[in-house]
Amino acid sequence: MKILILGVNGFIGNSLAARILSDTEWEVYGMDIRNDKLDACLGSDRFHFVEGDIGINKEWIEYHVKKCDVIMPLVAIATPATYVREPLRVFELDFEENLAIVRLCVKYGKRLLFPSTSEVYGMCTDREFDEDESPLILGPIRMQRWIYSASKQLLDRVIWAYGFQRGLKFTCFRPFNWIGPKLDELALDPEKEGSSRVVTQFISSLMRSDPIRLVDGGLQRRCFTYIDDGIACLMKIIENKDNKFNGEIFNIGNPANEATVKDLAHKLKEFFVGHPATKHYTKHSEIIEVYSKDFYGEGYQDIDFRVPSIRKARELIGWEPKVDLDTALRKTLEYYLDSNMKAVC
Ligand code: UGA
Repeated sequence: MKILILGVNGFIGNSLAARILSDTEWEVYGMDIRNDKLDACLGSDRFHFVEGDIGINKEWIEYHVKKCDVIMPLVAIATPATYVREPLRVFELDFEENLAIVRLCVKYGKRLLFPSTSEVYGMCTDREFDEDESPLILGPIRMQRWIYSASKQLLDRVIWAYGFQRGLKFTCFRPFNWIGPKLDELALDPEKEGSSRVVTQFISSLMRSDPIRLVDGGLQRRCFTYIDDGIACLMKIIENKDNKFNGEIFNIGNPANEATVKDLAHKLKEFFVGHPATKHYTKHSEIIEVYSKDFYGEGYQDIDFRVPSIRKARELIGWEPKVDLDTALRKTLEYYLDSNMKAVC
C-alpha cells in the first residue's frame, strides 16, 4: 500500500510515518515545509519525502494522489491563538487548501483519511460527544475562535456529501487533545508565549520559570490522549479490514484521561520540579490566573468540557486507549527536557 501524507513533519504525521515504516511494508510519500521531526523516517527506502508547501507544489500533489492508495491531508493550523489572531489564514489553509485535496481524491477515486477535530462539537452539552448523534454548537461570528471548527465542520460535510453523491471512499477521524513528544515547538523565547497548545505552553513556562497562566481560572476540562494510542487507532483505520471504515467518522480520544487545565498545571509542575534534570533550578513557575480576553484577545470563547464517546472506535475498530494521563504527561515532559534542556541552561 502507498500512503500520501501531506504535513508529514507535523505532530501526527511524523509519528504515523515512523510507525508505518517500522511496523508494515507500506510505502510513505510525504510533503512538508520542514523535516526536523523526521529522523526516524528519512533513512528508510520506503519513505519518499519532498520539502515543499502544499499551496505551491500542486503538480507534485496531483501526481502523488494519482499514484497512492490512501491520502492523508494533515496540513492545518491547530493552535487556538492563531484562530483568533489570523482567522483568514486558518480558513485559507485549513479549508481552501484541503478542499482542493479532497477534490483530487474524488477525481482519481482515492481513499481519503481526513483529520476532523474534537473542536467541531464546540460547546455541545452532551456528557459524551457522539460522532453520529451529537449537535455541533458554535458561538457568534465575532468570536473568531470558531473559524477553525467551522472550517473543519464544513469540510466534514463536503466530504460526506462527496461520499453520498459521488462515491468518495473516506474516513474522518477526530483527535481529542492528543499529546506527546514533538507536539509543538516550545516557546523558549518569551515573545512566542501564547502560541502553542496548553501542554507545550505550560512546559515552556516551566522551563523559563515564568508563570503558568490559567485562562479564566482553569476549570475547563479536556481528555488528553497519548499520541501512541492515537497512532495505533489510525494504523487500524488505514488497514481498513473488510473496508469496514469507509464512510465513517471516529472520535479518537481517551475519556479516562479527563482533567481540568488547573489539574494539568499542578501535575506538570510537580513532575517538572521532581525531575532530576531540573535540579539546578532555583526558582520554579508560579501558577496564576488570567482573563481569556487578555491572553487570547476578544475573539476567544472557550469550551468548558469535551469528553469523546469512543463506543464506535471500540466496537467497529476494536481499539482501546491504554496510556493514563500521568504517564502521557511524564513521557511528553521527558521528551522536551531531553531535547531542550541544553538550550535553556
Ligand atoms: C485544541 C486545538 O483547537 C486543536 O489543537 C485541536 O483540534 C483540538 O483542541 C484537540 O487537540 O482536540 P483546545 O483544547 O482548546 O483546542 O486547545 P489548547 O490550546 O490546548 O487549550 C486547552 C485549554 O487550556 C483551553 O481551555 C485554554 O484556554 C487553556 N489554556 C491554554 C490555559 O489555561 N493556559 C494556557 O497557557 C494555554
